[in-house]
Amino acid sequence: MKYRKLGRTGFEVSDIAQGLWGMSGWSGSNDQESLDAMQLSVDLGCNFFDTAWAYGDGKSDGLLGQILARNSGKRIYAASKIPPMNLKWPASPKDKYNDVFPAAHVFQYTKSILEKLGTKSIDLLQLHVWDDSWTGDPEFRSTVEKLKSDGLIQAFGLSLNRWQPTNGIKALNTGLVDVVQVIYNIFDQSPEDELFPICEKLNIGVIARVPLDEGSLGGKMTLETRFPDTDWRSGYFGPENLGNTITRVEKLKTVVPSGMTLPQMALRFILSNPAVSTTIAGMRKLDHVRENMALSEMGGLDAALLQALKPHRWDRVVKPWSD
Ligand SMILES: NC(=O)c1ccc[n+]([C@@H]2O[C@H](COP(=O)([O-])OP(=O)(O)OC[C@H]3O[C@@H](n4cnc5c(N)ncnc54)[C@H](OP(=O)(O)O)[C@@H]3O)[C@@H](O)[C@H]2O)c1
Repeated sequence: MKYRKLGRTGFEVSDIAQGLWGMSGWSGSNDQESLDAMQLSVDLGCNFFDTAWAYGDGKSDGLLGQILARNSGKRIYAASKIPPMNLKWPASPKDKYNDVFPAAHVFQYTKSILEKLGTKSIDLLQLHVWDDSWTGDPEFRSTVEKLKSDGLIQAFGLSLNRWQPTNGIKALNTGLVDVVQVIYNIFDQSPEDELFPICEKLNIGVIARVPLDEGSLGGKMTLETRFPDTDWRSGYFGPENLGNTITRVEKLKTVVPSGMTLPQMALRFILSNPAVSTTIAGMRKLDHVRENMALSEMGGLDAALLQALKPHRWDRVVKPWSD
């Protein structure tokens, strides 16, 4: 396993890490399978896990807490997120900072997350949504500073809205944000334009999320794929998105070199970018953990393949089904 610096946090994190969204209690998620998958990740050298209170009202935080307790001799970094008080994804400029992240709400959920993790301090606490119009709100600054001075968190981050990689750049320039989490994958290449150069300049850690486009880049979905209503993907891969996605995935498959699979190419595409600190793949299956963790040692893709992947960029706009 290879490790990279998470910006200026001082954390050295595995470049392949695990996201816990799919472990939050959707149909098909099984707690024992989730715990086994996380333990295998740890055994293979993964030391960074991304969860959020909103993943099952603390359920995923609690699963991660079990893994932290079971591996107390190892330095494992836990990242979690404060849910927006208005429970609206994505953030909207129509809402005020104080309606979404008032200090009392942030501190209450910080305490709840700490209880679930079973730790005294959260390595990385992120706000689960963000709108840059909130940047100048004095309560934003005072909240982040107090979370740190009280020792409740080690580092602070923002999870940017889906397909809005520039909606956070003002906040990055305040100096309050140590880490940014953004969707980055073969389709969603736009963070390369403005966000990554700023993160490199300011030494801000980058977590690339949704590396497999919610699973389409796993390469197994077809036009006939349907998810149960209780699976979040039933909405995301609904009538408006499934066909377009499958068409693009099929085109991508023509570029996969022999000896490589589509998910391997997708994850190694992300590893190719030095601005990225780590990528958090959702993986509940042990086989997926084994396959993905092994890619760290292989590293990025060669320049010719990266060039061939550029035209597969897909700039998208937020839709009612996309969050
Ligand atoms: N707003 C936010 O902050 C936000 C939003 C979305 C996601 N996230 C974070 O980002 C993480 C990753 O995103 P995600 O889990 O939504 O999507 P993802 O990582 O793009 O895709 C996960 C899907 O890919 C499958 N998969 C994993 N490895 C595979 C492989 N080698 N071959 C084929 N399929 C494979 C997984 O299957 P199995 O699970 O069955 O193994 C799962 O269905 C989340 O878990 C969460 O931590 C944050």
